[in-house]
Amino acid sequence: MIEIRTGPAVAAHDIKALWDKIAFSRGRDPETIRLAVEETDWFVHAWDGDRLVATARVITDGAFYATLWDVIVDPEYQGQGIGKLVMQRAVEPFLDRNFSFIALYAAEGKEGFYTKLGFDAHPRGMKLKESQWPKSPD
Ligand SMILES: CC(C)(COP(=O)(O)OP(=O)(O)OC[C@H]1O[C@@H](n2cnc3c(N)ncnc32)[C@H](O)[C@@H]1OP(=O)(O)O)[C@@H](O)C(=O)NCCC(=O)NCCS
Repeated sequence: MIEIRTGPAVAAHDIKALWDKIAFSRGRDPETIRLAVEETDWFVHAWDGDRLVATARVITDGAFYATLWDVIVDPEYQGQGIGKLVMQRAVEPFLDRNFSFIALYAAEGKEGFYTKLGFDAHPRGMKLKESQWPKSPD
């Protein structure tokens, strides 16, 4: 049975074992993972016994804005409704508090998963190309 839990108390090596299975989150070092989770405002995770099988992280100002990151389900557990469950647990506290902006950046090919949950592509979403940043003078 899959159990959804919340809170930062998850060992970095468990998170790494899951995130290393997915291309965009592969290769992150455990200490940086530990820091990121410590600074995460709302960390949702799914367990099959003592095996971590899914995560979702929310970063928020606690009043208006919330963004979602690292929505990841173990490939062996995909297609069983676990992604939807962690998303519901991640988003609903902020919906209930009438946040004005709940957003995420969809990985290629995953847009349909989010549109089914009610997300809509935003035509003015922007992401920095670091190489083009006009650095301030020293
Ligand atoms: C995207 C992801 C989180 C979905 O998790 P999942 O547990 O497989 O999804 P679920 O089984 O909960 O699916 C919920 C619904 O979304 C649909 N869905 C799932 N993935 C989809 C996709 N890529 N495109 C369209 N629909 C999708 C399912 O068919 C299901 O539909 P239903 O409610 O009508 O039955 C998972 O595939 C994953 O972790 N992928 C790798 C990491 C990744 O890319 N994460 C997204 C980062 S932005």
